[in-house]
Amino acid sequence: MLLEGLSKLEYRGYDSAGIAVRDGEKDVRVVKARGRLSVLEEKTDGGRTVPGNCGIGHTRWATHGEPSENNAHPHVSEDSSVVAVHNGIIENYQELKEKLLRNGYTFYSDTDTEVAVKLIDYYYKKYKVGPIDAIAKCMVRMRGSYALAVMFRDYPGEIYAARKESPMILGLGDGENFIASDVPAILKHTRRVIYVGNLEMARITPEKAEIIDLNGDVIEKEVTEITWDAEAAEKGGFEHFMMKEIYEEPRAIEDTLHSAIKEGTIDISGTGLTEEEMKSFSSVWIVGCGSAYHVGMVAQYVLEDLAKIPVRVELASEFRYRQPLLAKDALVVIISQSGETADSLAALREAKRQGVKVLGIVNVVGSAIAREADYVFYTLAGPEIAVATTKAYSAQLIGCDLLAVALGRARGVLEEEKIKELLSDLLSLPGKVERIIEDKERIQWFANKFANINDVFFLGRGLDYAACMEGSLKMKEISYIHSEAYAAGELKHGTISLVEKGTMIIGVATQKRIFEKTISNMVEVKTRGAYLCGITSAGNYSMEDTADFVLYVPKSDEHFSATLTVIPLQLLAYYVAVNRGIDVDKPRNLAKSVTVE
Ligand code: G6P
Repeated sequence: MLLEGLSKLEYRGYDSAGIAVRDGEKDVRVVKARGRLSVLEEKTDGGRTVPGNCGIGHTRWATHGEPSENNAHPHVSEDSSVVAVHNGIIENYQELKEKLLRNGYTFYSDTDTEVAVKLIDYYYKKYKVGPIDAIAKCMVRMRGSYALAVMFRDYPGEIYAARKESPMILGLGDGENFIASDVPAILKHTRRVIYVGNLEMARITPEKAEIIDLNGDVIEKEVTEITWDAEAAEKGGFEHFMMKEIYEEPRAIEDTLHSAIKEGTIDISGTGLTEEEMKSFSSVWIVGCGSAYHVGMVAQYVLEDLAKIPVRVELASEFRYRQPLLAKDALVVIISQSGETADSLAALREAKRQGVKVLGIVNVVGSAIAREADYVFYTLAGPEIAVATTKAYSAQLIGCDLLAVALGRARGVLEEEKIKELLSDLLSLPGKVERIIEDKERIQWFANKFANINDVFFLGRGLDYAACMEGSLKMKEISYIHSEAYAAGELKHGTISLVEKGTMIIGVATQKRIFEKTISNMVEVKTRGAYLCGITSAGNYSMEDTADFVLYVPKSDEHFSATLTVIPLQLLAYYVAVNRGIDVDKPRNLAKSVTVE
């Protein structure tokens, strides 16, 4: 059960894993392994060598201490009276460690988690007040973020939990109960879930699941029934989740479009935004991490052009610490697939602290960002498993396009006729994306030919530049090839010195107004020996005069071109990575959902 649950959480990290299991009153047994979960599965013969009826498990993305068996969770106190797993970062662990060292504790790992376990042990033994009070005392002392699941030797058949910032849920079963950091881990056993709140604790036994506040009082919580299906998260015949998810892009785009285009017109009232509110915003800030940030880069052009509203795009990790000067009537848009990214969530809270309204563009229903935002636009991409996002990125782009059209209408800058045209173009995108995917063999051929390159540069202007940023990220994260995206006109201010004979340049040019300009920049690098791959819209055949190899995407309204150009870029990265023998779905050092800062 633990191994199976962990396999659904590998997107959160996969550099080491471990389980702690108790069989009735017997002592706990801990097994850990460095590497993927499969190593632990082998080591325990699929769990058979550690039978029991109560246990905790963890799959890790290293923050403190290298990925090793020693640093893997669960961690235990010296006499095994306390054993725990932890997500998050205990920021003041050094100070707490010193306190414990002064009290005779020793440490076997480099982790902040071991400190948390020993701190619980310390209070548990010092005050003899039981698990809940011991954990509560620790919560007061620990800074940072945590989702902790703890077992105590004196309390067989019970698991305790505590949460600050890091996500955590309880699953309510029949004669069994669960704690997990995300729903998929327990979906096989139950659909009844309680979201554990910030600074709350929990205690579960086979019969009972209670949420407890810092005073030690049991609190009533709402039970949520999960309606989505676990099967959506299976590979379904594809070699990798990434390819399966690329194939799901037309569907993700279509479903997302239909959630806001009703009876031929745009309607995003489902987000909670009213026409009046949309009219009143003076500016938009878009905040996200990784690919979600790249969506913001595209959206900036689309929103400014269609809705005539000033837009700023920020990385969540920067936004949260630099005290941005937000106008009271600004709208902050937080884009996040998981809805749990720590930096994005903190950015949301910063905006709310300044009294500014927040719209979440989120994929995971009920996630923290969805719960805390004032308005929510749900992208309907379904569960995304591959670490490198594809369909969620595309659905987020659509979410932003729809927001642009809705704002444009509310602000009176888009005529009905124009809105109709834009919506009809948007509705044609799923079919166009499908056509690009059908033609994937050409991209595969090209990728195989160039899989051994060391560097690749992506060039484009405006919207094409924004799409390049995503294409470049895809390439480097799954193929481990050094790659950079450059605004085509900027290359000559430094980076062009890196271009030499055979350097791969991928130029994206779909915008009519600046097509010739980008082509000129491509010529500049070709003169210096680069190999040029061009991506453009059908009809722009003059690209062949410059580029060595050209990929065409169907024509569309230029505002929506990134939805099309990103598909060959995703496929290119995929095939290069496969050719290089890399685990495409789980590239090294990454995690899909980054719930630590
Ligand atoms: C991680 C993932 C990226 C993702 C980013 C933001 O770094 O590897 O693919 O874009 O987090 O995630 P979010 O869930 O907030 O969209």
